[in-house]
Amino acid sequence: MHHAEFEDPRVVAVYNAESPWSREDDFFVSMINGWAPIGPDRVPHVLDLGCGTGRLTMGLRNLGYQVTGLDPAKASLDIARTRPGSDGFTWIEGKSPSLPNSTFDGALMTSHVAQFFVTDDEWSQTLRDLHRALRPRSVLTFDTRDATAREWDTWNKAQSTRAVVLPDGQAVEVWTEVTNETNELVSFCQHYIYPDGSELLSSATLRFQGLDQIQSSLQAAGFSVEQVYGGWSRQLPGVGDGEFLVVATRKPDS
Ligand SMILES: C[S@@+](CC[C@H](N)C(=O)[O-])C[C@H]1O[C@@H](n2cnc3c(N)ncnc32)[C@H](O)[C@@H]1O
Repeated sequence: MHHAEFEDPRVVAVYNAESPWSREDDFFVSMINGWAPIGPDRVPHVLDLGCGTGRLTMGLRNLGYQVTGLDPAKASLDIARTRPGSDGFTWIEGKSPSLPNSTFDGALMTSHVAQFFVTDDEWSQTLRDLHRALRPRSVLTFDTRDATAREWDTWNKAQSTRAVVLPDGQAVEVWTEVTNETNELVSFCQHYIYPDGSELLSSATLRFQGLDQIQSSLQAAGFSVEQVYGGWSRQLPGVGDGEFLVVATRKPDS
């Protein structure tokens, strides 16, 4: 099934079990704290676009931010809704056109959400909607993999097989295989093998945009690119962790 990883409850449980808090979350929290700090009389409102099972969304909320999580995948939001403290919390089940106008002081797309917009139209529509939803001068930050690092070369059975233990103690064997590679697009299939021998599959395609293209699309959508890092310790692009970690601000309307 396409995107079962986010849309099939049995597979979302695996995604959630192997996605604990990490240095990536620390990086994004530090970006939000730097660009949209909580003040004595100011609680910034942060959007987590493609929030998935809500790990970082609730992490920011626990730090005192007002946060909205948006994701099109109901099964992922169903897990997010079970997180402690999520009662009365706003989760939007949908895509970027569902965003309200001029509401947020910061926005995030984490764990490579940006790579799920595989056409120019989808990407520029998302940036336009973010521009509409953000207040002037507010921050947008996201991660996207640097194609030159070719991370997908390790997406094969030999290098990607791992056992993921679910909260009920079941161990699921998971591995990834690339099924197609053309220009900037890499398609892959994840295999999930359960203790009873049954197998579930999840397919997806990711786009690996070049840095020039990312920067020009942000400019065209009304953002200024403030910083691009190549890794989670704020290295330069090309010498970090095979990432582009982008920090942009929404230009004021002219
Ligand atoms: C790899 S997960 C990341 C989830 C979360 N941000 C995290 O850090 O764990 C990618 C998420 O992007 C979401 N997604 C896919 N297409 C999307 C779209 N068009 N708009 C918003 N989210 C989307 C998926 O449903 C999924 O939850």
